[in-house]
Amino acid sequence: MGTVLAAGIVVYRNNAGKREYLLLKRKEGWLDLPKGHIEEKEDEYEAAKRETREETGLEVHPHRFFRYVAEYSYEDNGKTINKKVIFFIGKSGGSNAVSSSEHVGVEWLSVEELLVKLTHDNDNSKLNVIDVLKAADSYIEKLEMLHKINKEHAKLPQLHDGWNLSRTFVPGEGSLSATVMFIGQAPGKNEDIERRPFIGMAGKLLDQLIHLAGMKRKDVYISNIVHFFPPGNRLPTEEEAALEMPYLLKEIEIIKPKILVLLGSFSAMNVAGIGQVMKNHGTHKYMEKYGCEVFITLHPAAAVRIKANVPIMEKDFNKLKQLISSDSDRQKLL
Ligand code: URA
Repeated sequence: MGTVLAAGIVVYRNNAGKREYLLLKRKEGWLDLPKGHIEEKEDEYEAAKRETREETGLEVHPHRFFRYVAEYSYEDNGKTINKKVIFFIGKSGGSNAVSSSEHVGVEWLSVEELLVKLTHDNDNSKLNVIDVLKAADSYIEKLEMLHKINKEHAKLPQLHDGWNLSRTFVPGEGSLSATVMFIGQAPGKNEDIERRPFIGMAGKLLDQLIHLAGMKRKDVYISNIVHFFPPGNRLPTEEEAALEMPYLLKEIEIIKPKILVLLGSFSAMNVAGIGQVMKNHGTHKYMEKYGCEVFITLHPAAAVRIKANVPIMEKDFNKLKQLISSDSDRQKLL
C-alpha cells in the first residue's frame, strides 16, 4: 500500500506574552493538530488551509518557509497505513477556534504545558505532536527575533541626517532553518518596489544557480549587505556598508547557516575582507566570526551583463553543491 498524503497547520497565538498552540481533542482522548487529506488538484498549502478552516473555523495564512514532514504508520483493520503529513505554521488572527464534529473540543497550550499533558493523554497518538511542536516553536522563536530586528532596522533612514539611499527597507528572505545563506550587495529598483531581495534578472539567474547546486530557493536564505536601494544602482559607500553590517551579523546569528555564499566583490570584501573575486571565486574558508564556511562567487548581475561569466558561476555552484553534500570534499576544493 502506498503512502497517504495529508497537510496541516501548527496554529499559534501570543496570549499575554505566552506562545500557545492550538490542539484538537479527539474523541479517543488524545490531542491532535489541524490536518487532513490532500485532495486531488489541491496543493499541500491549499489543503492545509482548508483542513484548518474546516476543523477549527479559523482562516490561517501559513508562513511560506516552514515545512515540517511527519511520517508514521499505523494498523487499521489488519492493514498498515503509511502516512506523510506536511505541516506549516500560521499565526491565529485572534478569532476563537471552534471544534468540528470530528473533535470534542479545542485547547491552547504552550509546549511546556503540552509536555506535561502528553505523558497522560497522548499515548495513543500515532503522530508525534510534540516533535512537530518543538520544531515549530524553535522556528517561531527565530521568526519573532527576526521581525524584531527588521522593525528596528527599517527605522535606520529616520535616524540619519542626509540619508542617501531609498527609505524602503528590503529585508532578507527565506527559510530560517537554511544551511546556506546568500549575501548580495544591495537591492535594485525591482527589489525596492517589491520589498523582496533578488527578484529581478540577477535574481532569476540566482534561482537557476541555486537549482544547479541541488537546492530550491525556498530552502535557502537570501539577504544583502545593504538593505536599501542605492539610487541609480550606484555602489553603496563604505560608510553605508559599515552602518548595515551589525544588522547582517544579527541575521546570521539568528539563522545560523553552515555556509555563507558571498555574491560579488562588495559582499566578499565586507563580509570576509576578500578582494579580487575573479581570482578567489569558487574557494571557501571557515570563519570563526560567523561560525561557518564562507564561499566566494561572482555577483549574478555580472553574469547577466557578461554572458561569459555564466559558465564560471555554474562551475562555482557545482563546487558549492559538493561542499554542501560532503565535508570530506572540502580539502579538494581549497
Ligand atoms: N542585486 C543585489 O545585490 N541584491 C539584490 O537583492 C538584487 C540585486
